[in-house]
Amino acid sequence: MASPPRRCVCPGSFDPVTNGHLDVVVRAARIFDEVVVAVLHNPAKRGTFPVGQRLELVEESLPERVRDQVTVAAFADRLLVDVCREVGAGAIVKGLRGGTDFAYELPMARMNTHLTGVETVFLPADPSLEHVSSSLVKEVHRYGGDVTGLVPDGVLRALRSLTP
Ligand code: PNS
Repeated sequence: MASPPRRCVCPGSFDPVTNGHLDVVVRAARIFDEVVVAVLHNPAKRGTFPVGQRLELVEESLPERVRDQVTVAAFADRLLVDVCREVGAGAIVKGLRGGTDFAYELPMARMNTHLTGVETVFLPADPSLEHVSSSLVKEVHRYGGDVTGLVPDGVLRALRSLTP
């Protein structure tokens, strides 16, 4: 009998998706058979981009070669471990840009394992993308800095169409 597909979740706010996120998703797809990109959000908090647009931006930015393996879905007001259970994922995959990320992520990884046994796999960020975060990209763009190469083209267009 064939074994079930090995599935992981790449969670985040993705407000908006960056090339750092996409690098992690592509690398996760080399390790796992299927990757669920989970856009987690709190409906009470308004992000920069509406959740529907965040999903579209991730979907349209995925490289062709991983599209068969990756699904993108939004989850509101949910524990990540419940999302993992719902989609049948045994692991969470996250990128680590440095020690600050590690300090932030470690207790969450331990808590998630404590709650359901789900494991977290950390991937070291590509050094060329270590400085990239959604919040920094938005701030740099807001004050006129160039974020070309740090986010996919669709996100560049979406940033430009934000009303100041
Ligand atoms: O992109 P972000 O904002 O760094 O993503 C953080 C996110 C959404 C992955 C994290 O806050 C999360 O897992 N939220 C879901 C709620 C939850 O499970 N909280 C307990 C974590 S131990």
